[in-house]
Amino acid sequence: MKDRVLSGMRPTGALHLGHYHGALKNWVALQDRYDCFYFVADWHALTTHYEEREVMERYVYDMVVDWIAAGLDPERSTIFIQSRIAEHAELFTLLAMGTPLGWLERVPTYKDQIEKLKDRDLATYGFLGYPLLQAADILIYKAAAVPVGEDQASHVELTREVARRFNHLYGRHKDFEAIAAAALAKLPKDDQRYYERQRKAFGETGSAEALAKGEAVLKKAAALDGWTADDHELLLGHLKGSGKTILTEPQALHTEVLRLPGLDGAKMSKSYGNALLMRDEPAEVTKKIRAMTTDPARVRRSDPGDPAKCPVWAFHRIYSDEATRDWVVKGCTTAGIGCLDCKQPVVDAVLAQQQPWRERAEKYLANPKQVHWIVEMGTERARTVARQTMKDVRAAMGLNYG
Ligand code: TRP
Ligand code: SF4
Repeated sequence: MKDRVLSGMRPTGALHLGHYHGALKNWVALQDRYDCFYFVADWHALTTHYEEREVMERYVYDMVVDWIAAGLDPERSTIFIQSRIAEHAELFTLLAMGTPLGWLERVPTYKDQIEKLKDRDLATYGFLGYPLLQAADILIYKAAAVPVGEDQASHVELTREVARRFNHLYGRHKDFEAIAAAALAKLPKDDQRYYERQRKAFGETGSAEALAKGEAVLKKAAALDGWTADDHELLLGHLKGSGKTILTEPQALHTEVLRLPGLDGAKMSKSYGNALLMRDEPAEVTKKIRAMTTDPARVRRSDPGDPAKCPVWAFHRIYSDEATRDWVVKGCTTAGIGCLDCKQPVVDAVLAQQQPWRERAEKYLANPKQVHWIVEMGTERARTVARQTMKDVRAAMGLNYG
């Protein structure tokens, strides 16, 4: 059983190379090690663009095509749309009841975004609440890990606090000790004693090592006959001295990503007109790269330049091997090569990278039904998990009547 990873992306239509290097490439790689859930965060898009109703449908499917083109494998990854699973909204509502306002007001992205998006009216309830919606997205799938960029780390931290508070408030029903003891009795005697030692050590000293050892015993128990996920959650909470772990605290997965700037050196963004789309045609790619901004000091071919001041260099750092990079540094600083010479290996590398994307995408663009079908399957799979979590949540909160 692999740990689950969950991540979402707002539907922005066809993706560009900044999306690929900043997130998607990593999503593809994670498929080897995790049970991956990836979703289109369409409600999140509405938190800032609630009045743009025409964006949605096309944007959603264009983005999913790019995901698959980049190598997300629908057989291995669960691909779905947030708004198709109303349980996200239910969990958001239930979590909202006990979440202090201050927790949301203190999320750094809140004030930042209001500053940045001055042209929009973001004094809305939805915008303030959106990190809590994100917490619901994550917690409803009991995700162990969430790959996010620096800017979203505070949202994962909020998610952890929300889960902790929830487990604390609702995870200790009255027979908790007795039920935990019954679950513990399923372990081999040696493991029971070992577990109790670690629990005691953790309770007394807060030793992270003891906690890890205790968790390891529980993980091993998954192989036992009659051992259930419920036993696991119960004892995990018991081990930590809290109640049953109903909602799992996720880890933020930070991966080293090399930032790819836009064609002019600013952040790559479709709205700045400086983006290379994953599915731009070869002629378009060539034209765009040849027109890229370079070190402003290189006015004439005979002027030496400094790669550190040139966005083309940022592309070489991602796309070129060491020999090519040496050739660039030497050629640029001595005016041995021209900027168009310098750009050619980047053009070639981007075209080569896009080739398999284009081939994969073609199949789906010619047959949109297939993309819809993939999303349909993914949504069903995700819904099964979300429903189970909501059963546990409702029961824990005393809402399982009738
Ligand atoms: N908030 C994220 C963004 O704006 C998208 C997102 C929504 C997300 N829910 C998530 C990311 C859950 C990770 C996990 O980019
Ligand atoms: Fe940039 Fe290359 Fe021109 Fe130097 S030679 S300024 S690195 S494009």
